Amino acid sequence: MTDSRTRLLGLIGDPVEHSLSPCLHSFLLARAGLNYCYLAFRVPEASLGEALSGMRALGIRGVNVTIPHKEAVIPFLDELSPAAEAIGAVNVIVNEAGRLRGHNTDWEGFLKALDSRGVGLCGRKAVVVGAGGAAAAVVYALVSSGAEVAVVNRTPSRARALARRFSSLGSVTHGGLHDLAAFLQEAELLVNATPVGMTPHAEESPVPADLLREGLVVYDLVYNPPETKLLRDAGERGCLAIGGLEMLVYQGIRALELWTGHRFGDEDAASALK
Ligand SMILES: NC(=O)c1ccc[n+]([C@@H]2O[C@H](COP(=O)([O-])OP(=O)(O)OC[C@H]3O[C@@H](n4cnc5c(N)ncnc54)[C@H](OP(=O)(O)O)[C@@H]3O)[C@@H](O)[C@H]2O)c1
Repeated sequence: MTDSRTRLLGLIGDPVEHSLSPCLHSFLLARAGLNYCYLAFRVPEASLGEALSGMRALGIRGVNVTIPHKEAVIPFLDELSPAAEAIGAVNVIVNEAGRLRGHNTDWEGFLKALDSRGVGLCGRKAVVVGAGGAAAAVVYALVSSGAEVAVVNRTPSRARALARRFSSLGSVTHGGLHDLAAFLQEAELLVNATPVGMTPHAEESPVPADLLREGLVVYDLVYNPPETKLLRDAGERGCLAIGGLEMLVYQGIRALELWTGHRFGDEDAASALK
């Protein structure tokens, strides 16, 4: 129930109707007994500045930022966390008494699903397919953890640009989709950071099944459907398969922690995933 002390959280993006965030956050806030309300706001690009002024004026404690505003929002903020600065994208804004600080929790959510399975990254070779916003968070997470990363993308120049962005942090090479087989021969981790395989194209996979082999960890950022064709192929070939829902839940939990100061445990994540 809301009262005069209820604080407001939300999501800004365009569109927002498809988002799972209102359900996820409302569930976790209620479970923790926190007096917050979380709403989705469709904000067209032209209204982004006004929306953030409104956030300051109304004392909205925080928002998630989704497509297409994760980069466009940056000029309107007062400061960025080091990770958001490095990744070049913001998915969480915290309002500290009128000062808006941008964070990126996608990379932390990505790592948590590996960490919870005891998958170590230091010195491991990883291949990331895709070079968009999600890939930037993934590459940052991997190089920060000491992995050696190869980025392959349909448009090779974007893979090159992404590799260059993070090359000061660690080992990042790049290529086109035709380089996938060669990079995968040595890799221990494969990450799909493209929308290929997402509903309504759930019969597609970004990686031919015959390139998957036993022992490979296959992590698909796509969460709709929860089990993609890539993950099914991976399971059939003896790979450890991880779907995108966990990353979604963990990045959301990290955002809630930044806004509320409340610490959520593994049992909260597990119940949200049910
Ligand atoms: N689980 C989570 O918490 C989470 C978080 C963030 C994102 N995601 C998911 O990650 C995926 C990527 O999101 P994003 O924000 O990075 O998108 P984005 O910025 O639009 O980037 C999309 C990337 O996928 C590539 N791509 C698109 N269609 C392709 C196709 N048919 N064949 C090969 N490559 C293709 C693009 O290649 P080009 O450069 O050639 O266009 C680009 O590199 C989405 O499915 C999103 O839902 C999941």
